[in-house]
Amino acid sequence: MRVLVVGSGGREHALVWKLSQESRISEIVVAPGNAGTAALAENAPVAATDLAGLTELATRRRVDLVVIGPEVPLALGVVDVLQAAGIRTFGPTRAAAQIESSKAFAHEMMQKCGVPAAETRVFTSYSAAREYVANSSYPLVVKADGLAAGKGAIITVTESEAEEALKDILNRRVFGDAGNRVVIEEYLQGREVSLLAFTDGTRVAPMVPSCDYKRALDYDEGPNTGGMGCYSPPGFFDDTMVQRATELAIAPVIRAMRENALDYRGVLYAGLMVDGDQIRVLEFNARFGDPETQIVLPRLGSSLADILVSCAEGTLDPSTVEWKAGCSVGVVLASGGYPDHYEKGCPISGLDLVDRNVAVFHAGTRLTHDGRVLTDGGRVMSIVATGNSMAEARERVYANVTKVYFSNMMYRTDIALREVA
Ligand code: AMP
Ligand code: GLY
Repeated sequence: MRVLVVGSGGREHALVWKLSQESRISEIVVAPGNAGTAALAENAPVAATDLAGLTELATRRRVDLVVIGPEVPLALGVVDVLQAAGIRTFGPTRAAAQIESSKAFAHEMMQKCGVPAAETRVFTSYSAAREYVANSSYPLVVKADGLAAGKGAIITVTESEAEEALKDILNRRVFGDAGNRVVIEEYLQGREVSLLAFTDGTRVAPMVPSCDYKRALDYDEGPNTGGMGCYSPPGFFDDTMVQRATELAIAPVIRAMRENALDYRGVLYAGLMVDGDQIRVLEFNARFGDPETQIVLPRLGSSLADILVSCAEGTLDPSTVEWKAGCSVGVVLASGGYPDHYEKGCPISGLDLVDRNVAVFHAGTRLTHDGRVLTDGGRVMSIVATGNSMAEARERVYANVTKVYFSNMMYRTDIALREVA
């Protein structure tokens, strides 16, 4: 079987890493990939947003399945374009992917399905939004409606902060068209859990839950990022909670998608806020998480290729999706300054010193003609270790993080700490 994986992050490297171990897979092409995927597959110089280029590549290479990693091509309708060309694809159509690409759409869907969430209001006009924040209690979360690379949520604690956030989004257009509308939410307390599920549009198979660390600095200081580290499973979110959250948050959305004739075959990712036994949805994503995928896939006991194909074909059997016991911890190595300004092109050393049973998933890296690996983005790579206990996985991951070096390397030292302290 020949597969095309679309994207260039750590998530796509993890997908390629898992697929490359499976006997069913004969060839993997990645568009455009990174220095890590180049070692396991063939990188093709086609951007993840070049829909015509991807269709041409998939057709020319006669791939049996295309797997979409990032949200932007999904929001552009890559699945619609590939399916129209007769290519089997893993991912929701453009209309279905609105569950991530429009927070207003997601909010409406959640209301219709009775999915528990924060109290939410949607505005297009600055003056109406301003009036609302003047009469609200704080904190309030002000968000751009559209895609903002995980950076579009602004937590405000005073009215003047909320006004600034509204001006940034609606007037100064700091998120571009993603800020055509603004979404204002009640601030929810609790602990965040990422629960991802495979779906064929009818049936749902939850993955093991994980916790992503979104803030740039230790102890949740600094700005929000795309994710700085992750672990699985959270001690406070057991199998019963997974089951409850699947029935509460994921299954109703998939059912509503089907009832509205929206074609959702892929991953539905629920970002949950858990407060005691109360579960509420913060957001949905229409794809695998990053860095969650790097931490979750090492725990998958079944064939990923089989699951992806059955989702794409509408024949998913959730009882065949099996997970390994144990724990995994992943730490993201980022370029100093991320998520704001950072340098690129720094040589990375020490990768050959990393233990064989510890995974290195590249993200923003680039291979030079003479075979050196350079930094090429904010999140450079994640180091992922598994263990019989969280303490073992955590110790193993940090022992290997310190073997890798690049100029201004930055990482959090507290990933999974609360689970072992
Ligand atoms: P989002 O852009 O919706 O993915 O939100 C990014 C991050 O902001 C989430 O992972 C939370 O850490 C935080 N956040 C978003 N919405 C809320 C909320 N209603 N209450 C508390 N924190 C939130
Ligand atoms: N880790 C957050 C995301 O994938 O959106």
